[in-house]
Amino acid sequence: MELGNWNSKYSVNNAIIDDQHKRLLNILYKLERLVSKGGDKEKMVGLLSNMSDYALEHFKSEEQYMQRIGYPKLEKHKELHSMYTLEVLKYTLSHLDDAPENPREVLNFLSHWWTDHILKVDMDYSKHANLN
Ligand SMILES: [Fe+2]
Repeated sequence: MELGNWNSKYSVNNAIIDDQHKRLLNILYKLERLVSKGGDKEKMVGLLSNMSDYALEHFKSEEQYMQRIGYPKLEKHKELHSMYTLEVLKYTLSHLDDAPENPREVLNFLSHWWTDHILKVDMDYSKHANLN
C-alpha cells in the first residue's frame, strides 16, 4: 500500500474510527520512512510502542462500536484483534529494549495486516451498519 496515503476507500463511514485508522496508518508511514533511512533503533522502538498502545485503544473503541450496532460477527472480529495483539507482543518480547533484527519484516507484517484488516474485515461491519 501507499503508506500514509489514507483515502476514501479506507473509510468505514464512522468519523471517529476513520480518524483512528488515519492515525495508525500515519505511524506506519513514519516507521516506513525510518526503516528506509536505515533508521535509528531508539526511534524504531518508540514508534513500535506507540503503534501497540494506540492499536489497543483503537480496538477497544472499535469493539464498542460493533457492539452498539449489533454486529453479528463481533466475537470473530475480537479474536482477530487478539491474534494481532499477541503477534505484536511476541515481536516486542523478542526485541525488548532493542529494535528488531529485521525491521523490514516487521513493517511488512504491520502494513499488510492493517490494510487487509481495514479493507476486508472492518469493511464488513461498515456494510452491516449501513444496512441498519
Ligand atoms: Fe478491526
